This record gives sequence, C-alpha cells and structure tokens, in this order.
Amino acid sequence: MTVLPTALDTAGPEYADHRAAMLVKLDELNAEHAKVLAGGGEKYVTRHRGRGKLLARERVELLVDPDTPFLELSPLAAWGSDWTVGASLVTGIGVIEGVECLITANDPTVRGGASNPWTLKKALRANEIAFANRLPCVSLVESGGADLPSQKEIFIPGGALFRDITRLSAAGIPTVAVVFGNSTAGGAYVPGMSDHTVMIKERSKVFLGGPPLVKMATGEESDDESLGGAEMHARTSGLADHFAVDEHDAIRQARRIVARLNWRKAHPDPPAAEPPLYDEDELLGIVPGDLKVPFDPREVIARLVDGSDFDAFKPLYGSSLVTGWARLHGYPVGILANAQGVLFSEESQKAAQFVQLANQRDIPLLFLHNTTGYMVGKEYEQGGIIKHGAMMINAVANSRVPHLSVLMGASYGAGHYGMCGRAYDPRFLFAWPSSKSAVMGPQQLAGVLSIVARASSAAKGLPYDDEADAGLRAMVEQQIESESLPMFLSGRLYDDGVIDPRDTRTVLGMCLSAIHTAPVEGARGGFGVFRM
Ligand code: COA
Repeated sequence: MTVLPTALDTAGPEYADHRAAMLVKLDELNAEHAKVLAGGGEKYVTRHRGRGKLLARERVELLVDPDTPFLELSPLAAWGSDWTVGASLVTGIGVIEGVECLITANDPTVRGGASNPWTLKKALRANEIAFANRLPCVSLVESGGADLPSQKEIFIPGGALFRDITRLSAAGIPTVAVVFGNSTAGGAYVPGMSDHTVMIKERSKVFLGGPPLVKMATGEESDDESLGGAEMHARTSGLADHFAVDEHDAIRQARRIVARLNWRKAHPDPPAAEPPLYDEDELLGIVPGDLKVPFDPREVIARLVDGSDFDAFKPLYGSSLVTGWARLHGYPVGILANAQGVLFSEESQKAAQFVQLANQRDIPLLFLHNTTGYMVGKEYEQGGIIKHGAMMINAVANSRVPHLSVLMGASYGAGHYGMCGRAYDPRFLFAWPSSKSAVMGPQQLAGVLSIVARASSAAKGLPYDDEADAGLRAMVEQQIESESLPMFLSGRLYDDGVIDPRDTRTVLGMCLSAIHTAPVEGARGGFGVFRM
C-alpha cells in the first residue's frame, strides 16, 4: 500500500487548537493583502479612474484568459518598510492565449508608479523567474521611473532591469511591453529593449526627457505628443509596433502578440490527476501554534499529492526526514519533509542520496520545511554532523532539477540552507502563515547572547547585572521573533509569497506547470566533492 493513511483526529481538541491558531494568522495575512489591493489609497485610485484608466490588476485580469487564475508573486514586497506594501508593482504568472507568461504591471496609484528599492527587487525577482522557467514576459507599463528621493539605492543596480529584458530576448524568451502612460527616462528602455511594443493613442508617453527637461537641455520647445506620443512612435520613430486606440484595444493586441509567438513548452501537460484522498481544508489543523511541538509531515503530504499516493524512500533510516516519490497535479516530484525538526547525520546522508536520485531521473524536488537545524553536541560533532550536513547542502546546491520550497513551520539555521532556502535558488519558495525563519529560535538566540555577555564580563573581572540581562533577553527575543515572521520575510522578498495552506496544492501545481515550460534536466555529475 503506498496510499498514505491519516491519523489526524479532526474532531479532537488539538486539531481545533491548531486550526484556530492558523485562522488567526490567516486573518492577519488577509488584512495585509487587502492593503496591497488598495494600492495608493482611495484618493489616487479615484483620480486614476477619473482619468478613464484601468487599475493595474484590472489590466492583468483582462490580459489573462477568461476564468484562469493569476498566481500573484511577492504581493507583500516592502511590508514593514516605509514604502507602500506591494511596492507599486504587480508581478505574477498568468495564462494568455494558452501561454503561461510572467506578467508585470506598474501600479500608477502609488507615487505615480515610481520604482523604489523594493519595486526593483520585486521586478528583478520576476525576471529571474522568467529566465529560469523560460516564461514569455509581458510588462504593463505606467511609471514615473525611478523614485527620485531614493535614487541612490536604485539608479546603479536598476540598470539590471533593462539588461534582463535584452538578455531574455537573447535567450529566445519573448518580451512584450504595453505602455499605458508614462514611461520616461530609464523607463523608455522598457519598450526600447522589448521584442514587441504596444502604445496607446494620447496615453503613452515614451521619451528620454519630457518637455521641461528638453527645454533645460537644448532650449527646444516641445510637447508630450511630439516627443513621445503613440502616434509619433507608430508613424515616425518606429518604436511602437502596434498602435492601440484605448486600453482595452492595447490589451487585445497584446493577447494577439502572444497568440502569434508560436510558443511551445518543453514538456507537454500531464494527464488529469486525481485529487488527494483527504480534504485540503484539513491542512489548517496540522501545524501546532507552538512550533516546538512536532507534527507528522506525512499528514501534509497526504493532502497535497495526487491520490495521497506516496512511495517513501528509506523510511526506516534517518526517520526525522521523510523522503519519497509522488505526483502533484500529474507532475512527478521527490519530496523531502522534516519530521522531528532536527537533522542528524543519517537524515543528511539520506537527503544527499535522494537528491542525487532525483537528478538522475529528472524529477523536480519539493522541500517541506519544519527544521530547527542540524544536531549539535559532542556525540554528533564526533559523529561527523558537519561533514554530513555539508554533504546535504552540496547535493542541494549543485542539484539541477527544479526545486520548490514551502516553509510550513520552523526553518532555522543551516537547516534552512539544506532544505533549499532562498539562497539555494529554489524556482519558487512560499511560506505558510505558521512559519518562522531565522538563524535560530528567538529564545535560543537571546540565551546565547546572554551567555556570551556573561562570559565577557567574567573575563574582564566585572560584575554581571542580572536584571539588565533579563530585560535585554526579553528585548532581543521580541526583536528576533518579529524578524522571523513570514510577513516580515516576505516584505524583504525572501519568499515569493505567504500562502493559505489550503492553496498549497494549487499554487505548487501552477508552479510545476510553469516550470515545465523549460527543459527539466537533472545533474548527472557536477556535484562538489562529497566529504565521506
Ligand atoms: N519619484 C518620486 N515621487 C514621484 C515620482 C518619482 N519619479 N513620480 C511621481 N511621484 C509622486 C508625486 O510627487 C506625487 O506625490 P504626492 O501625491 O505626494 O504629491 C505622486 O507620486 C503622484 O504623482 P502625480 O504627478 O500627482 O501623478 P500623475 O499621475 O499626475 O503623474 C507622472 C505621474 C509619473 C507622469 C509624474 O508624476 C511625473 O512626471 N513624474 C516624474 C517622472 C520622471 O521624470 N521621472 C524620472 C525618471 S528617471
């Protein structure tokens, strides 16, 4: 029998507690997502609409095929910063004329759609996704360009935006720019570098310098239309390939461009898949509110994979890491999921072997995180935990099959790395509202600091102030706790979004489908030296 059984008691008090804790966190998350949708707020939204313009997400909605989902990425970018959450840009994956595309849309209701440091990070992350998965890119442009007061943080690194557009093009990945409004100065290079451009009558403004700047530079008198209007670019400069009469027409033309791309995915879609045997709603009641309490990740796997069917690999060896094979929306996946939290030598070796197997068979890997890191202590150091952890990290870092990571619970220390954390380039990484990630747990970190401070005082022969120490510990604990939370980490673009656990199968299915646009080829060799 390879169908996973369940021991989840959905009528019991533990399940109810876990579910209640998760629902509180989801409410908090939904409140933040609502702020993202509000963009620049009522005043700017009303003004924008008053100009007869569509909002960024309305443009996206009209661009994608009717009744198809849009997987929005990094919606919480800039959370916890001084900038508007969402970072004045919408990015995500949607289907246009049957083609999965990476779509970006400036939000002109937030500071004229100008790009701040978080907008830049979000846009560059979107480009990375397009590159890795070979997704055609469609940019819906209306932006005040660089956010001028923060230019020092974006001007120099921001050159990467235009570099990426042309590198995508050079890699044969189509790029389409639809200009809804302002696209001046550096912004002019978005249509300038794209394979296809659509401009809109009396709306698009594409020039290196507007009339005041031209007046200052050369003394020439000019106006927006003659400098950079759609008519001029369609008839005279040749920068516009397509002239649209209004926004709806521009979106229609963009859809026609994609329809004519002759775009073919590297892998055909798999046949229709069976859903899991168990209700995905139950994913709300698995992770305990207190992450110190372990949970069985097989209960999660059973609610994610096709038919809840899972072939475990080495279940009796290194049992604190569950490894095995399954399908998700028809796509084969190898799954690594933490069980008891700690990674020992056996788990690390098993993971390295499993990652190599997936690479031999060209099977994408899914990492389900709930780890406090690699085991410490004399016995484990003497047993070679560093060598074995390094072996796992080596395998993950040099693996060439696509990786997906989901932070369900804890993701601490080097365990975050071994389980393919952000720095290990998973194709996509999502967090559940229940997750926490940091160098170690807040209490442990505060405790370590306190021990170090105490030892330092003793070395200097000074008395130690225990009362101040308690205060400091509490403060540090609180700081680390808030910096470990998913909204904070998502704000810094350390994931691609915080998702409702119930959506995990759908989100991963969309990612796997996008991933299979590019060839899935594992590494046959090319790992670093495995220290045995
Ligand atoms: N940097 C910082 N703030 C900017 C900005 C930019 N590049 N562009 C616009 N803003 C701010 C405005 O100051 C305004 O703030 P406020 O509401 O607090 O007064 C807000 O965004 C909205 O701008 P506003 O000019 O009222 O909107 P609009 O829709 O009428 O015009 C633009 C939008 C983009 C056409 C216009 O703001 C503009 O020309 N901006 C400068 C463009 C530019 O030359 N950029 C240099 C690129 S390198």
